[in-house]
Amino acid sequence: MKYTNIDFNDKTILITGGAGFIGSNLAFYFQNNYPLSNVVVVDCFRSDKTLSNGNLKSFGHYKNLLGFRGTVISGDINDEAILQKLEDDYSFDFIFHEAAISDTTVNEQDLMIQTNVNAYEDLLKIAIKHNANMIYASSAATYGDAPSPQTVGRENPGNVYGFSKLMMDNITRKYIQEGVTISIVGLRYFNVYGPREFYKNKTASTVVQFGHQILAGKTPRLFEGSDKILRDFIYIDDVIQANIKACAPKASGIYNVGTGKARSFQDIADILQKELGTNLGTDYIPNPYVGQYQFHTEANINNTVEYLDFKPAYEMEDGIKNYIEEIKRLYTSEVKDK
Ligand SMILES: NC(=O)c1ccc[n+]([C@@H]2O[C@H](COP(=O)([O-])OP(=O)(O)OC[C@H]3O[C@@H](n4cnc5c(N)ncnc54)[C@H](O)[C@@H]3O)[C@@H](O)[C@H]2O)c1
Repeated sequence: MKYTNIDFNDKTILITGGAGFIGSNLAFYFQNNYPLSNVVVVDCFRSDKTLSNGNLKSFGHYKNLLGFRGTVISGDINDEAILQKLEDDYSFDFIFHEAAISDTTVNEQDLMIQTNVNAYEDLLKIAIKHNANMIYASSAATYGDAPSPQTVGRENPGNVYGFSKLMMDNITRKYIQEGVTISIVGLRYFNVYGPREFYKNKTASTVVQFGHQILAGKTPRLFEGSDKILRDFIYIDDVIQANIKACAPKASGIYNVGTGKARSFQDIADILQKELGTNLGTDYIPNPYVGQYQFHTEANINNTVEYLDFKPAYEMEDGIKNYIEEIKRLYTSEVKDK
């Protein structure tokens, strides 16, 4: 699907975090739709390093890039030598900056700010030098428990992750105000789900996690009151649409990327059971995150529609239907008997 008139076939494209969920989907978008584009992926990939919450320090996985024919560089965006190499060895037309500590429960504030905020500004400087348009990942976490519909300008981050993304947006505003020749677009993704998220482990969406519980014959376990915990869940293809349209925005800025509709966790479990042909009911467990949890998110996408021409195409029913064969494949190859 081509979302713009830009011919990316003669373009050089940097995707940071390209071995992760959203970055690898972008890499394949270009490979499949613009086979002559020159796509460079930079990712620090995973090692066995964990952070104090017990989760992996980074989730990049080679399996997300199986079949990718572009350039793959293993590197840390906090490493000045890697940044220098990117600046000297390439001339980028577009930078899609997805690399980040994407785990919202990470406690290491120093690493979070360095990776998410400071490295972003370094990459932005490269974008300006190369005259490359910058499209980067912000987050709905900037809103914390701010009331729905979440609207740019009314943020209230509830953790250091959300704070870090808000600081990226502040940097963006500063550069836009100073007047840069490139366009800079921050995309505040809401809850994204879809193929290539599996290697985010526990931080992958509940869609794939519930799907695998159901395929194991277990009753899906939801937090108590899950019919009243609503989020704006968005399918990966719509996130790709937003990224591509953000290459030629009517105006630089920060935009929400959601469907504009809130759906419950109960809906996810119910739609999955319908698609998988099961009738296992649901179990409810106490919610340990009360107080630090977003209970209702629903993106205000008016500006995204107006300035990026964004048109979300997937209702949750459509997204899960599209994803279900991949959920089954992952279960057979990665989960069952492991
Ligand atoms: N998935 C969502 O629902 C969602 C929602 C809001 C925002 N986001 C943001 O979107 C972006 C992509 O998220 P994702 O879901 O694909 O997560 P992900 O963890 O799969 O992708 C992030 C990638 O960045 C890499 N990375 C981490 N630290 C790095 C470093 N120092 N140097 C180089 N690479 C590094 C990781 O290895 C990983 O491959 C992130 O910036 C995330 O914060 C995601």
